Formats: sequence, structure tokens, C-alpha cells
Amino acid sequence: MNTDHIRNFCIIAHIDHGKSTLADRLLQITGTISDRDMVEQVLDTMDLEREKGVTIKASAVRMSYTAKDGGTYELNLIDTPGHVDFNYEVSRALEACEGAILVVDATQGIEAQTLANLYLALESDLEIIPVINKIDLPSAMPDEVAEALESLLGIPAEDIPRISAKEGIHINQVLEAIVNRVPPPKGNENVPLRALIFDSHYDPYKGVVAYIRVVEGHLRNTDSLRLMANNTDVRPVEIGYFAPGMRPVDELDSGDVGYIATGLKTVSECRVGDTITLTASPAAEPLPGYLHPKPMVFAGIYPVEGEDYSNLKDALEKLQLNDASLTFEPEKSQALNFGFRCGFLGLFHMEIIQERLEREYDLDIVVTAPSVEYQVILLDGTQMVVDSPVQLPDESTIAEIREPWMGLDIFSPTEFFGTIMDLANKRRAEFRAQDHPSPNRVHLSFEIPLSELIVDFFDDLKSRTRGYASMDYHFEGYRAGNLVKVEVLVGGEVVDALAAIVHKEDAYHKGQRLVTKLKEIIPRQLFDVAVQASADGRIISRANVKALRKDVLAKCYGGDISRKKKLLEKQKKGKRRMKMVGNVEIPQEAFMAVLRLE
Ligand code: GTP
Repeated sequence: MNTDHIRNFCIIAHIDHGKSTLADRLLQITGTISDRDMVEQVLDTMDLEREKGVTIKASAVRMSYTAKDGGTYELNLIDTPGHVDFNYEVSRALEACEGAILVVDATQGIEAQTLANLYLALESDLEIIPVINKIDLPSAMPDEVAEALESLLGIPAEDIPRISAKEGIHINQVLEAIVNRVPPPKGNENVPLRALIFDSHYDPYKGVVAYIRVVEGHLRNTDSLRLMANNTDVRPVEIGYFAPGMRPVDELDSGDVGYIATGLKTVSECRVGDTITLTASPAAEPLPGYLHPKPMVFAGIYPVEGEDYSNLKDALEKLQLNDASLTFEPEKSQALNFGFRCGFLGLFHMEIIQERLEREYDLDIVVTAPSVEYQVILLDGTQMVVDSPVQLPDESTIAEIREPWMGLDIFSPTEFFGTIMDLANKRRAEFRAQDHPSPNRVHLSFEIPLSELIVDFFDDLKSRTRGYASMDYHFEGYRAGNLVKVEVLVGGEVVDALAAIVHKEDAYHKGQRLVTKLKEIIPRQLFDVAVQASADGRIISRANVKALRKDVLAKCYGGDISRKKKLLEKQKKGKRRMKMVGNVEIPQEAFMAVLRLE
């Protein structure tokens, strides 16, 4: 089959530069979606995404476009996730394309994820079409941004479309550039099938729907198919493409982008990056680049009420149906009883899961301080992996603790250079290099322990730079560190969920801060409560939460019955986020306080 009329492309951008808005406009102008059906940001299907304004899952839509040359083209737009935690998914979506539209906000210029995504696209050998968006805004600086893009990409500034995705200005220039500059797919039709899975979702009727790019060969809806990573054979329920709803077809050919409804029950059987081939005449080798994404950040998730345990388990299982990178296993904490140790791709991924459990599943949960995965080498030579402070063996048996280090890139206006360096210093970051992508902007590279990055680093960076800085990070390797466990005792009992692994130099300071903070957070009880921190088996700090005075309590008694009820209600509400440790109530904030220490 001739593929000359096919163009497979994606849109890449820094968060909020207008990727989804441009996608909407393309769908609208090509008549893929009628104006009436135009719900903003069609490609972001999850409510949460719409609210957060961030694309979490990639999807693909086929459009038909009649170009100035008179030809009608099949344009496949593949949407990519917009966050660094999902870089692997982004890279697979890019592999399914021949071209990428690089959207840059005319008021912001090149940001951390502009570059990170650009590099990923260049690794996949994509034709890059830069586009300057938001020219309708008074603060737009299209000339300056065009110059920066020219020196970055070697594309003449005057050839870069200047558009407003929101107002629908110059969108045709983008469509013409796709037709004229993105190469048609190349792929041999007459070899065994190899199709790349670049995304998937779970459909209650059709099972897991795999989003695929046919790289070579072809498939029919009657073919038995094989997933090469696990050698699983499936008979597809249906094959087709999105326009934007599911449109079944009988056949998908080399170069096509579409879907296979597999009937499988969980997305973990059908992983992004895997290759699909024919059972009858399988390909010899899968496509290169398959990776099993590894969780980098771990935290305990516990139900506030013990009886919610099985609801929490159900909810996590349901979330996992659509999210193969979420891991969890049962965990027991002395303080929090039964819950789950969960693994996430990054902090942002963790936040999404936490929010979905609370909002979509209406669960009251306590999330413990996130931890990274440490490699611990014992004196007897054995190695173990620890992703929770509780698991750390006795200090006296440890030879070395290694922690994950990341490469970190920060983009910012130059005026914030000092405060960024200060933040980096506080977080044990090591400065690597700096350059100036444009006159008033600086790009700083660091190496930093992941454990320092996962605790409010981004929030701190944003507040120090009034929201102007952007950042991107990637895993580099493990390094030995001078690390120690700090434990907290409340009323003489060790609260396991309040333990933290910290740098030895910081242990004393952090222990003190933690105790001071807990003293503020833990409500007064009927008796004095001692709060202590210990490291290396020594108490390093202590404070007392004083008992309530009797007359304060007295107010709660007597009075009319409705007032009493109200008080009880209020108390109950307050309790929802409390956990009993021994006979002391500890609020959820306390478990987070461990992190928020400078
Ligand atoms: P993520 O999904 O978070 O990665 O963001 P995105 O890149 O998809 O950005 P999105 O399309 O959600 O746009 C971000 C914001 O910019 C929204 O409030 C849009 O309405 C606005 N926006 C997008 N394009 C334009 C434009 O051309 N002009 C103006 N004024 N605003 C725009």
C-alpha cells in the first residue's frame, strides 16, 4: 500500500505552552470534530487532567486534511504526556511518529521541558516543526523566541509559524508544514508484522485497548496476535483507529496508527513499548527500546479507618488496570496498621494517585513521607534494597548506604540565579554547568540526590522564582552517602511512620526541627506527651506537648443538645485525619511534617 498520503506526528511542549489547545484547533479545522461537539481539550479524557490542565495519557486521533497541493492526507496526531515522570511513555509515543510540532509560548520562550522533549524527539530522528504560540497576548515576544529557536534548531526565524492556538490564528500554516515537512512513514509491507504499543487504556467491554503504530507488515481483525515481551497470544476483539471515537476497520497496514482491542484484563499484560506480531508468522525480533518502567518514589498509603482497607485495595487494583507503572504491596505499620507500600514513577505521579483515591474513590487516606530506593551493603557483604526507613537494618551492621542521584536542569530568568544556587546548596546539589539560551535566561545543570528533589523542591523553586523557573530531571546512578535513620518517639513509643533517612550532617538539625514542628501539630491531650527524636540510638531532641487545662474541656459539657451534637460532629471530622498511636492522636500533617524540614 502507498503511504505517501500519511503523516504521523505529535505535539511536544513545555507544560501550559498550548499543546492541547493546538490539538483542539487542528481537530476542529480538519472537521474531525464538529464545532458543536467541541469540548475543550478533547484529547485529555480524564477529568482530573482537565482540572489540572495537564495531559497524563497519550492518545491518537486520525484527521483528514486537503492541502494546498490538492492532495488529501491522513494525519495521525499522537498526543504525548506532558510531565517528566512520564518520559518513557513520551519516548514511545515519539517512536510512533515521523515528525513533531514543537510548541513554544511566545511570552515564556524555551523552558526546561521544551528542551527535554526536543532531545527525546531528536533521539527518535523526528522532523522538528517549531511553532510560536500565544501571539495574541500583549506580552508576546515572538521575534526574540524565533531567534532563540533559530539558534537552537538552525531553522530560519522567518520560517517559523507564529500562531494563536486559542484564537485560531495561522493554524493552516501548521497543517501545511506537517504535510510538506514531515516525511511519510516508511515500512516494509511484506515482512512479518511488528506494531509498537505506545499507550493503552482499559475498556470494561473490550478489555485493554492498545494504541499502536504498525511499523512494518500488516494485520487483519481475524489474525491471532502475539505480545512479544511475555509471549502472550490474543485474538483481538476489534481493530481500528480513533476519529476521535473508535472506528473499527478490517485491516491496518504498515505506517498506520490505530488501536487493537485485546480483551486482556490489565494493562500490565500489554505494556507500553512492547511489540505486537502475528502468532502464525511471528517477527524474529521485537522492536528495540522496550523498557519496564521502574518506580523511583515510594510511600505508604493507609486507610484512616481500618475497615476501609479492602476498599483501598480495590481502588488501587482499579487504578492499576490503567496504570501499569503503579505498584503496591501490603504493608503493616505499628502506627498506621494495615496499608500498602506503593511505588510511583515520580512525585507528580504519586500526587495524581493520591488525589484519585481521595476524589474518585472517596477514600480517607494517610500517605507517609515519600522515600527513594536505597541500596544497603551490610558488613558481611550482603546487599539489600530498602524503600522505607522502617526497613533499614541496625546501624552497626551497615557498611554503606547508596542513594539515587539525578541530573537536574533548571531554566530561569537570570535575576533568580542567586536564589536558585542557594536552594541547590541547601539540598545537597552539586553544580555542574551553566549557559545562556537567550540573553536574559540562564540554564543551570546540577546533580542532586533524588531524596532532596522529591520533597517540595519544585514548589520551593517556583516560589523563589515567582513561578518563572522550570525544571527537568533524569536518573543518573547510585552513589554512597553518609546517611542515618532519624526516629521519632511519641509518648515513649517509636512511631515507625515518622522515621526518615537523612544525611548525617543534617540529622541533629532535622531532628530538632521535627520535634518542634510535631509539638505544634499534635493536639493537646488530657496528659503531657513527650516528643523525642533519636539517631544512632541517641536522643537528639525532645519537647513536651502540655496537657489540656480542665476549664477548656469544661466548655464541651452542658449547654443545649444541638450545640453538643455540632461539637461532636466537628470532633468527628477532625478525627477523620487522625491516627491513634498508643493513646495519642496524631494528625495526617504530622506524617508529612517529616518531609517539610529545611
Ligand atoms: P499541558 O496539558 O499542561 O501540558 O498544557 P498544554 O501545553 O496542553 O497547554 P494548554 O493547551 O492546556 O494551554 C495552557 C493555557 O494556555 C490554557 O489556559 C490555554 O487556554 C492557554 N492558551 C493556549 N494557547 C493559547 C493562545 O494561543 N493564546 C492565549 N492567549 N492563550 C492560550
